[in-house]
Amino acid sequence: MTLLKTQNLTKRFGGITALNGVGLAIERGELVSLIGPNGAGKSTLINTITGQLSPTEGSVHYAGTEISGMEPFEITQLGIGRSLQTASIFPELSVRDNIAIASFATEHGSFRVNFFRRRDEYGGVETRTSEILEALTLEDEADTEAKSLPYGEKRRLEIAIGLATDPDLMFMDEPTAGMSPHETEMTVQLIRELLEDWEMTILLVEHDMDVVFDISDRILTLHQGQLIAEGTPAEIRNDPRVREAYLGGGAE
Ligand SMILES: Nc1ncnc2c1ncn2[C@@H]1O[C@H](COP(=O)(O)OP(=O)(O)OP(=O)(O)O)[C@@H](O)[C@H]1O
Ligand SMILES: [Mg+2]
Repeated sequence: MTLLKTQNLTKRFGGITALNGVGLAIERGELVSLIGPNGAGKSTLINTITGQLSPTEGSVHYAGTEISGMEPFEITQLGIGRSLQTASIFPELSVRDNIAIASFATEHGSFRVNFFRRRDEYGGVETRTSEILEALTLEDEADTEAKSLPYGEKRRLEIAIGLATDPDLMFMDEPTAGMSPHETEMTVQLIRELLEDWEMTILLVEHDMDVVFDISDRILTLHQGQLIAEGTPAEIRNDPRVREAYLGGGAE
């Protein structure tokens, strides 16, 4: 079943066309990676879907409902989450309270519709917070002030806050950026758990091609605001347009 669909999604900033007629579909349960060179429009695409930016043209449908034009909080409450939320970390609060607040805000928003889960299947804020602390191996840091976390753990807290809003579809914009190889490995493992155990659908923006080719079901390639190729990791690896535009022609 198609969970997310965009049609002719276009975003202009003055004279710059950051997104140019993007039509994509994401099926429930998929892990789709979005790749493309710097400035290709990847973050703009995410921000336009999650309501941080409004599209210049085109539409976004989530589970059959048109969401273009909705406020970001309404889109979050429908079940779309995102991991890059540095701005939403409260530096003076503990790791646990940061997660609990995001969870509480979503549970007690002005409306809460989840297309795929029954209301009585929700645990409380406390249960969800504990589950997330465990999944992100942040239990030992639960009482630490967010501002004193080391870099890698701060990045994990961003993912945790994204999960606290109970998404069915999660956008992750470069979750491994700046992480050590060990932290990257843990994050990849976490993404697998989110797909398998939490039955999530994920759209991942990632520059580490080893990670992308390893975990993606499908890869979308954006170049100058347009989707230029779409396929399995094997198809994308061998696509001449992708090699030219992004992989520099020399990728293995
Ligand atoms: N708020 C904005 N105002 C003006 N131009 C913008 C704005 N946001 C993005 N752009 C421009 O839109 C284009 C796409 O930028 P975007 O950040 O979406 O690229 P990206 O694919 O996420 O790049 P990166 O890999 O560096 O994160 C770029 O030319 C960028 O300069
Ligand atoms: Mg970006």
